[in-house]
Amino acid sequence: MTIHIGAKNDEIADTVLLPGDPMRAKWAAENFLTSPRLVNPVRGMLGFTGTYKGNRVTIQGSGMGMPSLSIYANELIRDYDVKTLIRVGSCGGMQPNINIRDIILAQTTTYVTTPSSTIMKEVSFSPCADFNLLQRAYAFAKRKGFTTHVGNIYSSDTFYDERPDLNEQMVRHGVMAVEMEAAELYTLAARFKRKALAILTVSDHLQTGEALPSDERENTFAQMIHVALAAAFPAD
Ligand code: HPA
Repeated sequence: MTIHIGAKNDEIADTVLLPGDPMRAKWAAENFLTSPRLVNPVRGMLGFTGTYKGNRVTIQGSGMGMPSLSIYANELIRDYDVKTLIRVGSCGGMQPNINIRDIILAQTTTYVTTPSSTIMKEVSFSPCADFNLLQRAYAFAKRKGFTTHVGNIYSSDTFYDERPDLNEQMVRHGVMAVEMEAAELYTLAARFKRKALAILTVSDHLQTGEALPSDERENTFAQMIHVALAAAFPAD
């Protein structure tokens, strides 16, 4: 039990999937896991533990933004000794070759600040994905025929952004998409020597204004869960 997670010590698996939305955690647990059990009701930030192909896995909501994700990731790592953390979420496309419904695997992330940035002082730290998770996620997604991009994303602190000039620089430097959590996840994974990956679907596009229709969100979310579980638990 921690301040924000009510699960007993043995109720959290070594591998945790982290959707931002707790109702997505419930949906994924009910649709992908065998014998899912609610292990965290605290603040409605639901977490479930079950098995996938015989492997224990927890699906825990992270909330929106790096401060919220940082609380859950810190407690999962420090108190429950979680080894592998995979974010499954949405992002806004930033390049002409990135389309809604595409899958983005964040190889690295750019950011202005993270909850960890003050400890870095003058250093610009480069958070990066675990290579094995990234490689397995990419291979699986390609095999399934999902349009998948690997590269740099922008982990922003603002959804309602007042700095179009920053986005311009991101676009200019090939950053694929914007979201709000991965940089802190990767930084914590580096600090505590854990494995992390962010798997994202493009839900809207900053340049075209296009957005994923709500009836398609479930389908694209299911694709990400498939990719995450395949990356976490390779078949052989
Ligand atoms: N900005 C930040 N996070 C997001 C966006 C966005 O446009 N779309 C989905 N997640």
